[in-house]
Amino acid sequence: MLRLLSGVIALALLASAVPSAAQSGGSDAQSSSPATAPRRGGNPAAARISSPVAATPESVASGRRTYRRLCALCHGAEGKGDGGGAGGGGVPADLTAGKWTYGGSDGEIFAVIHDGTSADMQGYSDQLSDTDIWNLVNYIRTLSAHSAH
Ligand code: HEC
Repeated sequence: MLRLLSGVIALALLASAVPSAAQSGGSDAQSSSPATAPRRGGNPAAARISSPVAATPESVASGRRTYRRLCALCHGAEGKGDGGGAGGGGVPADLTAGKWTYGGSDGEIFAVIHDGTSADMQGYSDQLSDTDIWNLVNYIRTLSAHSAH
């Protein structure tokens, strides 16, 4: 009985160790390496990261909620860059223009939000999950689509 119990404890310890190891290695794997960091003119390595999150109405709605909470103060309610909240001397990008300083692919936009580019445009990888960031990318796509047509 005692031996069985210690076996169960050893198993429980093993099981609890495995997911935490997977978590620390896994969640940030996508865009925290220098190879995919945002670059002026775009970054082909980041552009190759394709979104694992389909642009469903739910994803876009979730992205819109996050945008209003964290991004609108600088980029403006409609994404035109007119929110006025940048205090570090930067000019918030117009996200409706379809022109991108750091490249306009899903992966490049992800990299900007994940890693940040400046004192004003900080990285959000510690506040948002990768899925939250992809939802934002899906929402931002709807902003530039409006003005492109
Ligand atoms: C404090 C102000 C501020 C906040 C808050 C902010 N941004 Fe920015 N953002 C900027 C500035 C300034 C730039 C231009 C940075 C540069 O050129 O390096 C920028 C650039 C960007 C770009 C790059 C556009 C391009 O042309 O390549 C994207 C995408 C972006 N922001 C998305 C977001 C999202 C999504 C959020 C919310 C999670 C957010 N930003 C929050 C100020 C802000």
